[in-house]
Amino acid sequence: MRTEREADAQDQTKRRDEIQSQEIRRKFLDFFEKRGHRVYPGSSLIPHNDPTVLLTTAGMQQFITYFTGEDSPPSPTAVSVQKCFRTPDIEDVGDQSHLTFFEMLGNFSFGDYFKKEAIAWAWEFLTQTLGIPEEKLWVTIFSGDEDAPEDLEAKRLWMDVGVPEHKIFGLPKSENWWGPPGESGPCGPCSEVYYDYGEEFSNGDPSEDPKFGPGGEAGDPRFLEIWNLVFNQYEQRRDGTLVPLAKTGIDTGMGLERVTAAVQNVMYVYDTDVYTPVFTKAKEFSGVGLGDSEGTDRSLRILADHARGMAFLVADGVRPGNQGREYVLRRIIRRATREAYVRLGISAAQVSSLAGVVVDRMGDFYTELVAARSDIERIVGEEAARFVEIYHSGTELLDREIAKLAEGKKLSGEVAFLLHDTYGFPVEVTRDVLEERGLALDEAGFQAAMEGQRERARSAVQGYDRAVAAFRGAEFTSRFVGYEREQIETRIVALEEAPDAPGEFYVALAENPFYATGGGQVADKGWIASMSRDGGQLVVLDAVPAGDYQVLRARLENGGGFAVGDDVLASVDRVRRQQIEANHTATHILHWALRTVLGKEVHQAGSYVGPDRLRFDYRYSGRVTEEELQQVQEQCLLKITENQPVRYFTTTIDEARNLGAMMLFGEKYGDLVRVVEVNGFSRELCAGTHVRASAEVGAFKILSNRKHGADLYRIEVLTGREALDYLTRAAEKAERLSEVLRVELDDVVGAVQGLQGEVRESRDSAREQALRKGMEDVGALVAGAESVDGVKVVAGRVVAGDVKGLRQVSDDVKNRVGGPAVVVLAADLGGKAVLIANLHESLSDRIRAGDLVRELSSTLGGGGGGGPTMAQAGGGDPSAIEQTLARVRGIVAGRVSSGADG
Ligand code: ALA
Repeated sequence: MRTEREADAQDQTKRRDEIQSQEIRRKFLDFFEKRGHRVYPGSSLIPHNDPTVLLTTAGMQQFITYFTGEDSPPSPTAVSVQKCFRTPDIEDVGDQSHLTFFEMLGNFSFGDYFKKEAIAWAWEFLTQTLGIPEEKLWVTIFSGDEDAPEDLEAKRLWMDVGVPEHKIFGLPKSENWWGPPGESGPCGPCSEVYYDYGEEFSNGDPSEDPKFGPGGEAGDPRFLEIWNLVFNQYEQRRDGTLVPLAKTGIDTGMGLERVTAAVQNVMYVYDTDVYTPVFTKAKEFSGVGLGDSEGTDRSLRILADHARGMAFLVADGVRPGNQGREYVLRRIIRRATREAYVRLGISAAQVSSLAGVVVDRMGDFYTELVAARSDIERIVGEEAARFVEIYHSGTELLDREIAKLAEGKKLSGEVAFLLHDTYGFPVEVTRDVLEERGLALDEAGFQAAMEGQRERARSAVQGYDRAVAAFRGAEFTSRFVGYEREQIETRIVALEEAPDAPGEFYVALAENPFYATGGGQVADKGWIASMSRDGGQLVVLDAVPAGDYQVLRARLENGGGFAVGDDVLASVDRVRRQQIEANHTATHILHWALRTVLGKEVHQAGSYVGPDRLRFDYRYSGRVTEEELQQVQEQCLLKITENQPVRYFTTTIDEARNLGAMMLFGEKYGDLVRVVEVNGFSRELCAGTHVRASAEVGAFKILSNRKHGADLYRIEVLTGREALDYLTRAAEKAERLSEVLRVELDDVVGAVQGLQGEVRESRDSAREQALRKGMEDVGALVAGAESVDGVKVVAGRVVAGDVKGLRQVSDDVKNRVGGPAVVVLAADLGGKAVLIANLHESLSDRIRAGDLVRELSSTLGGGGGGGPTMAQAGGGDPSAIEQTLARVRGIVAGRVSSGADG
């Protein structure tokens, strides 16, 4: 197939040289601009209007509110080239067709033209402008179901432009229905255009079996989907029902990479000119080119796709991290680096040059790439280098685990998960390493560990999704007043219609004093009291950011009910807020102190600011000594006791930068930013709430500073009341200790150390004495051995320091008696009788130590048991020792002879 395809491709060389992907992009915009469409720049990969969407995945996203009618469009039609990033296929990238990053060409109508024009123009653009032969194009339409009828209108329109009926295929909703993009919104049937590479790539005849047709289940490589025309006719409500849209609309999407493949008549997107520059550069670095081997082709394709993704994500402000889109970026840089470094011998720095190639190639059209070139190269380079480090420490850990593996055992899923989760060491690498050594991974165990993590992540986002969904489309304004007010008379402006958690629901206020989770600071809690209805009271459990406003999760505590429009008194839990504010200001002071003591290399990596404590994660490559930590603590205390004023102001991002304000690496800020300043020495971009002067922090106590990763530390601190409580309790314990020890407080540690030494000494000497005494006893015991049917029986009381000593004595006796022997020794250890039965192994089939001990326990008391040669009883009564030992001989005699009989 490949050779045929290549031959085919060569025939097309001329056409291919004529139309390059850049030209197709241009021609598309021109074509629709000439037909009255307003040209829109594509939007950022970070969707600006929808917090529920991770990344931009379609051209229509920036226009959603024009389709729903929420906003009126500045023009009734639009055309755009949209950069898109789709995550579900990340793991499949590497084969010949999957992509994460791609460009979508789209034309749009907001209540203007509909199916007729959309179809006619699509046909004209493909066949006339791009010159794709008509006979190469097939189409699909929606085949209808109980919700919506078959799209016969589209079918007729395709026939009108000249598509023969036998090349039009009906497909179900799973294939030919698009949207809504979220839980609700515009949607409708769609119609897709396919490029036909020729019968020779199919396993069957579409006219006989539609599964061999375009979009058919057979999935033959004969057909390539190039353009999706969506006819927005319906609005899907949140309950799933469809209602006709007042204004119909058109939303189309054509993958630039795919249409280029069709125009250039190459079967796979990776064979188009789009990817050539990256492949060329990769070959320069590694000597490996596309087509050299299946394995290296896979690596090259991963590099080619991911290089584009990383360049564009960084240009749009994403930074590598562990969550959401930041994690997507981290994942593709790491995955690409792994392929590059491990398989192709390309260095981390060279990976960043590959991202640079993308800038060279696409910077003309996407000027943001050029502007961000140095960021792209630096950030990709750093993350790639970090991965190489991780790769080495991960393989070391893996090597150790593999060495520990017992013969025939699989590597535990937990270890693979730890590598993946903590080290960022991809599970595919783990599998590869195992495979190379003929080993396997416990896949089920790994999946279980992953599922556990997903579950944790899911429950965390669920509340947020629900809150956002609850108010999507609702019209109200809500203003945050929590910087100035902790209590306010205001009004309910939105209530969730159908609360599903028992008794809990979401509510929004005209003026909201509750701080919503953000920037590390936890949400406020508090109360909402009704002023419209008697005694109505809500408890506010959480506040969640939802775009421009905050929604509150609440539970009805008292009274009949609440409704939109009700007047209420909203009160933040002030004591709790005060503690949070103390911790937040302390976090800023701590950040400053760390940079002062350890150096400017310290960078914040994350934080938690709650009422209970603060946690601050920071990157630092050196070792933090006890002394340095002590200095940090002192610096913080100094700044707190100096009672420095804390103020905040809003300014432009440039001014903030000029002022040297600390910004979080990877955070995207708007043009206007809020700066929190502690009297000139600490300035940070921060939306959180703070105390008014540093002395309000009250107290400051570092609890721990632990290493959490290669260059990551986590420091935990108590402030205010919590710190005072902690210190008070610690002081009380120390005082009590000084009383008990009868020494001054300052001497407590020395006194305890002295005592420990004494205890150790006396324990050692007691043990030694006992051992010596025991050894003396051994002679007497051996001499007193009695013979019962050829078995030597020794039963005696000895003095021993501990069980171990007792056992040693019994071994000694057994060895010195020699041959088949039953040795039973008992001792009084701290007021409890302990008994050991130590039997020669040749006796196992006649008498077992465990059985003997159990029988002896009936007079000794306590419990016990053990194996065939060694058993132990403990907890018995020392006064019963003699009586019990006296029974040994009889029991042995009974067993040994009955055993001989049997
Ligand atoms: N919005 C449609 C798609 O993404 C065009 O396929």
